[in-house]
Amino acid sequence: MKQALNALKKEAERTLKKITVQSELFELETALLGRKGKLTEILKGLKDTPKQSRKAMGVFANRIKEDVLRVFENKKQELDEKQWASLAQDEWNDLSEPALPVKARGHLHPRTIVGEELEAVFKSLGFMVLEGPELESDFYNFEALNFPSNHPARESMDTFFIKNQPGWLLRTHTSPLQVRAVQKYGAPIRAIVPGRVFRNEATDASHEHTFYQLEGIMIDKGISIANLIAVMKELLQGVFKRTVEVRLRPGHFPFVEPGFELDMKCLLCGGAGCSACKHKGWLEVLPCGMMHPRVLEFGGVDPREYSGFAFGLGWDRLVMMRYNIEDIRHLNSGDMKFLTQF
Ligand code: DAH
Repeated sequence: MKQALNALKKEAERTLKKITVQSELFELETALLGRKGKLTEILKGLKDTPKQSRKAMGVFANRIKEDVLRVFENKKQELDEKQWASLAQDEWNDLSEPALPVKARGHLHPRTIVGEELEAVFKSLGFMVLEGPELESDFYNFEALNFPSNHPARESMDTFFIKNQPGWLLRTHTSPLQVRAVQKYGAPIRAIVPGRVFRNEATDASHEHTFYQLEGIMIDKGISIANLIAVMKELLQGVFKRTVEVRLRPGHFPFVEPGFELDMKCLLCGGAGCSACKHKGWLEVLPCGMMHPRVLEFGGVDPREYSGFAFGLGWDRLVMMRYNIEDIRHLNSGDMKFLTQF
């Protein structure tokens, strides 16, 4: 058997020397090392080898196999190099030839486009951009935002709770960052938090289980509703690139007092009423309000010294308004027919 193995190695070395093209190399490899090749044939003899020398013979056979593989590998490399060298020689580069036209170029998702514009507006107003965890605790998502346990307002947000992990959930809004940011940076502070949020909801044209919001807070000495309105107008004008009129209506959220719904005069009809604004002349764009003293306290800020406003922009909703998108589900669909329009 040893002899046969040595002969195989010799044969490989000898024949390889004569080979000049890849296809012959492949043929030889199959004939010697393939499943039905010579090596397999020789190794069948292993079972007739006396027991005491069988193991040593196995080791020997393996060594031979490795040696043979190595010479094959070297030959392969040699042939490759030759082929590349000859290709390079034949090649002729015409540097004046125009490049092929680019057929398809990637581009940003509409949500990203609007998000970058929003960030630019807020950065120009001195806001920092923060991120927070999507897996959130009940404490930050509800408790610290003045949703007492068992309070019915919690039910307004259908929550994905984490199985077997009491106290943990997927955040239902970006508002938890109101407290997290203040705890971390203290007051005064200006910050926005763009991010993904989750609700356990049936989906339709205006509801998704996974969507995006942009939260913002501004806390300082003497911050008032006038500051809130000024910043909100700046934000909307930055996105719509036009002067916009806004109005406030009362709205209830446990973490702001007073709380508002901010409406924007419909840009399509100028307030006269059209199908885009459902003939109201106004579009509801963002809920906001003055931060509740308890929320400031949870953040470690003294509400007698500081006041602030907070807002929670429906980022996806804004994208829909900006581009006239009729169904929120397009945004997460990955549908190329939709995406290539931007
Ligand atoms: N977090 C609220 C929601 O998702 C929205 C909201 C309302 C955020 C009022 C705010 C606010 O910051 O002041 O429904």
